[in-house]
Amino acid sequence: MNTKPLILIVDDEKNTREGLARALRRSYEVLVAESGSAALNILSERPVDVMLSDLRMPGMDGMTLMQRALAGSPQLVCILLTAYGNIETAVEAMRRGATDFLTKPVNLEQLELVLQRVLRSRRAETENRQLHEQLDSKFGIENIIGNSPEMQQVFDTVRQVAASRATVLIQGESGTGKELVAKAIHRLSPRKHGAFIPVHCAALSSTLLESELFGHEKGAFTGAAERRKGRFELADGGSLFLDEIGEIDASVQVKILRALEERRFERVGGQESIDVDTRLIAATNRDLKKMVAEGKFREDLYYRLYVVMIHLPALRERKSDIPLLLKHFLTVFNQENGRTIEGFSPDALDLLTAYPWPGNVRELRNVVEQMVVLSRSQRISARDLPVHVREAGGPDGTLQTGNGTLEEMEKQAILLALKETGGNRTHAADKLGISRRTLHRKIATYGFTEVDGV
Ligand SMILES: Nc1ncnc2c1ncn2[C@@H]1O[C@H](COP(=O)(O)OP(=O)(O)OP(=O)(O)O)[C@@H](O)[C@H]1O
Ligand SMILES: [Mg+2]
Repeated sequence: MNTKPLILIVDDEKNTREGLARALRRSYEVLVAESGSAALNILSERPVDVMLSDLRMPGMDGMTLMQRALAGSPQLVCILLTAYGNIETAVEAMRRGATDFLTKPVNLEQLELVLQRVLRSRRAETENRQLHEQLDSKFGIENIIGNSPEMQQVFDTVRQVAASRATVLIQGESGTGKELVAKAIHRLSPRKHGAFIPVHCAALSSTLLESELFGHEKGAFTGAAERRKGRFELADGGSLFLDEIGEIDASVQVKILRALEERRFERVGGQESIDVDTRLIAATNRDLKKMVAEGKFREDLYYRLYVVMIHLPALRERKSDIPLLLKHFLTVFNQENGRTIEGFSPDALDLLTAYPWPGNVRELRNVVEQMVVLSRSQRISARDLPVHVREAGGPDGTLQTGNGTLEEMEKQAILLALKETGGNRTHAADKLGISRRTLHRKIATYGFTEVDGV
């Protein structure tokens, strides 16, 4: 905002009106009105930032004026002036949309502070909104960042399926944004006012998972002291997100299949059938089709889930998103840590783009956070990168692009992370932004041996 904020002063008493106007003209553009209807005329013609209005005036009072003004311009900041002893009315005014109130006679210093505060928070709000709108329209939706053709395709599908009730299966490696996409589908859907209920299937035993999903009756099993609603019921009218659906075992698979087919189920230990209107979104980092072929996942459930499939490509398969994501998280963590780091040096950017990101966006996010916290300079350079990122391209830190395949680089990154953590797999997995389980799988796939220090 380069121009001065525009303040409208409304008071039937000439002295107050002119006195305030004189004081405020130093820092603001000021208009005055001697009645509610004169004020409404001005508001219909000029975009006023703050209206400062007396509460008690002949004709239209301040409260009515404020309500009419807000109906026409909801962004308007209203500050009411009230005689001492009329605090109750002032509180009522706040309830109806006033931002603040001041008692008369007005203390000019206090008025100046209030104005600074409301204008600052208003500006922050506007900027935030504009930033979100810009980001949303240009680079993605609902905080999901990406300008690669692959992600643009994902955004198109998300927009299309959000409108329907279709079951969606989201597949992608750990950290590619599956949960983010599930939430976006919910928020863009007509069910957005209903609940979004996530269930992390891998974390629960099958008995617990069943009662978590479908609820139970009092006394259904030891410890079931009360009747309890399940997540299917809680998500009625909203969306149920089954995360890591590849991990659930056959007995629960059957029950989910039936709930999907019939849109009804019984609580554990119950007779009564419960009808629900729940939209199911499922996610997995496993290859479900392969699991079907191996007899580990029910084929009929697979096809029920696979009405719409969204595949989230690994970050190394859409490297053109990397600079944008780096910039995005740099802004986020600058803000969070009160830093003002401007960007990345070209060699740092090269290394960050070449790195295979086994933990995908989650790992990238963690790395940027770490660098923002630790970096001492205004620009992040190769020196500031974590060792396993810096050296994944070659032990001397100089990256020869085209020299190492992605697979070799990933191997290298894993070995380095293990070395840095003295072989502690939990810590190494943390560093890489992947789960312990994924790390185990990768170690097995790459066939690391004792010789490698694993
Ligand atoms: N495209 C993206 N834009 C912005 N942030 C992202 C994007 N993708 C992922 N993230 C962020 O990365 C982190 C991991 O995302 P999310 O939890 O959705 O991944 P996931 O695929 O569900 O991973 P997991 O399989 O490990 O559960 C979150 O902090 C999320 O906000
Ligand atoms: Mg997840």
